[in-house]
Amino acid sequence: MKLRVALGADHGGFSLKNELVTRLHETFEVLDLGSRTFDRDDDYPDFALAVAQAVASGQAQRGILVCGSGVGACIAANKVRGARACLCHDTYSAHQGVEHDDMNILCLGARVVGTELAGELVDAFLKVNFSGETRHRRRLEKVLAIEQQALQSER
Ligand code: RB5
Repeated sequence: MKLRVALGADHGGFSLKNELVTRLHETFEVLDLGSRTFDRDDDYPDFALAVAQAVASGQAQRGILVCGSGVGACIAANKVRGARACLCHDTYSAHQGVEHDDMNILCLGARVVGTELAGELVDAFLKVNFSGETRHRRRLEKVLAIEQQALQSER
């Protein structure tokens, strides 16, 4: 079964997101969560929310968010419980973040990286899985406990 990958971008990441959608179509099941049209007044949190919810709910196994720097989308996505979004502009972090930290959303800055590097970052992110090694699982459980505590303190 093909891995389902959700993508989203604001106006800052619009072109790069579309290029990635085209590139990924052959190998993955692609869920394009917008923007579908260029709108320079759109806002990255809307697309970050859509992608983060798709991943957190299991509708997609991985997510990719693109904005101008990748920063805003990353901040917004991590507000959704279950999202582990990271801005990675080097290939080591793009795969190690999955293997060690179970990162499930890759954030990219279209004003920072070119198309070719973005493609390599996405390949590095999608070709690996969480290792599940005891030490990484222990650390992930501690991260999830922080998330759980934050939710409980709001009640
Ligand atoms: C939009 O101009 C820009 O601020 C946004 O795409 C992103 O870079 C935010 O982090």
